[in-house]
Amino acid sequence: MTHDLNINARALAIKPSATLAVSARAAALRAEGKQVLNFSAGEPDFRPPAAVTRRVVDRLEGERVAYAPVPGLPALRDAAASELSTYHGRQIGRDEILISCGAKHSLANLFLVTLSPGDEVVIPAPYWVSYPAMVELGSGTPVFVEASAARGFKLDPARLGAVLNERTRFVVLNSPSNPTGVGYTAEEVRALGEVICAKAPRAWIVCDDIYRKLVFDGYEHVSAFRALEGLTDKVVVVDGVSKSYAMTGYRIGILAAPRHVVKAAAAVQGQTTSGAATPSQWAALEAMTNRAAQEDVVTMRGAFAKRRALMLEGLNEVPGVTTVPPDGAFYVFPNFGAYVGDRFADDVAFATWLLEEKLVASVPGSAFGAPGHLRLSFATSEEDIAEGLRRIKAAIESLAGGSAA
Ligand SMILES: Cc1ncc(COP(=O)(O)O)c(C=O)c1O
Repeated sequence: MTHDLNINARALAIKPSATLAVSARAAALRAEGKQVLNFSAGEPDFRPPAAVTRRVVDRLEGERVAYAPVPGLPALRDAAASELSTYHGRQIGRDEILISCGAKHSLANLFLVTLSPGDEVVIPAPYWVSYPAMVELGSGTPVFVEASAARGFKLDPARLGAVLNERTRFVVLNSPSNPTGVGYTAEEVRALGEVICAKAPRAWIVCDDIYRKLVFDGYEHVSAFRALEGLTDKVVVVDGVSKSYAMTGYRIGILAAPRHVVKAAAAVQGQTTSGAATPSQWAALEAMTNRAAQEDVVTMRGAFAKRRALMLEGLNEVPGVTTVPPDGAFYVFPNFGAYVGDRFADDVAFATWLLEEKLVASVPGSAFGAPGHLRLSFATSEEDIAEGLRRIKAAIESLAGGSAA
């Protein structure tokens, strides 16, 4: 076989995730019939709201499944515009909304149509794995700024200020965050906005609000538009139904951006994927407008809150491990640094050991630009959380006691 169908530089620049090896091993162990406890899930373990499923089934029986308009079904764009206008306290019109195949697609479209070579995008670390690759595919340059555990995994305005310049096109704000779960307050968002306005005249803020409805313990998500009122309205919002309504498989994302950006992103979408799948758009419309679906979100949030508490309680008992309590999403991001380094080459080796020895699947922090940590998802049952933490504690104690060679 000849190998002259070469992979181009753009694709070669996309590095395979460091976590792939761990998740492949977890799958292999499961296939062998081993009881792997899965703390690596990036999606809710619930079913979508029953009202959504019913409505989609009804419409599938009664309607043709035709192409949707490229930027989205008008009814869904209007519903998104209406919800986001109310939430952000500003008028957002239908032509400022683009419906895409998941929030990931929304972000990829945004970077594809707005970045040019030389443009920089500031990404606070720890970060969601896909941001750097998306920026690079959009021919921009990711610039990482550490948001340390000591500062609750939140970006320090002074550290942000040090990397901002006239090439900065975007600053990414993901609140609550994947992988840490932490959320910014209005004051914190404003402090970042002040530095951005002072130091990076071309920069916009991209708010990845995909977890905004999954918040706990009194934390309330902050609309950047509201927090930055009177300072700047250079804000682009990415939102969606994947996480809050347990609808990851439907693949619907929402971009709210100036109309010329939506128009350009729709043009790219029109020549690549076309409009998002019509039944998925029906589903998203039902999720966003059906009252019972909103109640399901509240129920799911309650279940996550209980699991979060269990997770924090359990981690508290693991010696030498520190955790910043999450404000939202369904992840915790504890620091196992005390145990990585001596005995393990890195956190990937540590996570692999935890998987092999205790059958606990996690995601190593290096995938998120924060080595030494593990991302543990609590999108799993209370029983599994209790058992998994028991196993983690036993694993750590075996290390501390030197018995695990
Ligand atoms: C921070 C963040 N943004 C965006 C997405 C993508 O969401 P979607 O499934 O709607 O593409 C995810 C999914 O893991 C995420 O964690």
